[in-house]
Amino acid sequence: MTRAAASAPGKVILVGEHFVVEGQPAIAVAVDVRARVTAEELGGEPLVEVVSRELGRASFTGDEGRESPLYPVYVAAREVMRLAGRVGGLRVRVESDIPPAAGMGSSAAVAVATVAAVSRLLGLDLSAEEVSRIAYRAEVVVHGKPSGIDNTISTYGGAIAYRRGEGFLRLDVDFSPVRLVLADSGIPRSTGAMVAKVRSLKERYPAVLDPIYYAAGRLAVEVGKALERGDFEVVGELMNVNHGLLSAVGVSNRRLEELVHAAREAGALGAKITGAGGGGLIVALCWREDAERVAEALEQLATRVLVAPISADGVRYG
Ligand code: PMV
Repeated sequence: MTRAAASAPGKVILVGEHFVVEGQPAIAVAVDVRARVTAEELGGEPLVEVVSRELGRASFTGDEGRESPLYPVYVAAREVMRLAGRVGGLRVRVESDIPPAAGMGSSAAVAVATVAAVSRLLGLDLSAEEVSRIAYRAEVVVHGKPSGIDNTISTYGGAIAYRRGEGFLRLDVDFSPVRLVLADSGIPRSTGAMVAKVRSLKERYPAVLDPIYYAAGRLAVEVGKALERGDFEVVGELMNVNHGLLSAVGVSNRRLEELVHAAREAGALGAKITGAGGGGLIVALCWREDAERVAEALEQLATRVLVAPISADGVRYG
């Protein structure tokens, strides 16, 4: 084989971001906005060339090139090459439709698709669990201490309840009555910096913050049950409560509040920050028939609005 391709979906965290980093459960769904990766034999030099539609091109050997935004793609490829006993001679092409640094897990989706494509090219038959684990190692390079929720949902698809250190449970949810509307504040932010900010608050006020973390964990459990019974009104109401908890730990701002409130006023069942906050996206849960109205209201305020199709599939080969 001289070429192999794979794609992986982005994600939306419905509830539990940040609290998941410290061991509370969180719930995420895969959305069918994908990163696609093609791996091909390059021949000649023992290097890995990464070509990205969005970020340009770079070549890597050994440990050099850490400052490049494409380095995490190289790390994902290198982890697989080590397993196959390969040193270089690969080109990895990346195309992603997932907005970067917005809270949709674009880096994890690229890592998952890279691991899958490179493993297929090199003739390794990795299990989904191995793909997710290797992608996690590449995520560590980008985020420092990610919870693991992004690579997990991107690998497996559907809806999952995730708990750090314990793994995940698939949720059986019929999402057909609802839509997820995503609105981008247009404010860039770094997941690592936001996670560090929340951790610092928790270290300074543990007695105050611990009950908030506990509440977020209970909330995620209730949301999981409500999703499986199709009780989206409860899910929406608890998403609003979760937004309040995220504001409490300092990851909201005026712009995100405006978006969240505009979505609720336009008829969303619930609306909240999704992902690290400080900028990036909000997610609104809406009845299918209300999604257009909510999207229109958000278009007045957001740099981009997306009605996100939920993806039953995780990583796909070919
Ligand atoms: O904003 P994103 O997609 O990078 O999501 C980050 C989610 C956090 O819970 C804040 C961090 C993590 O590792 O789970």
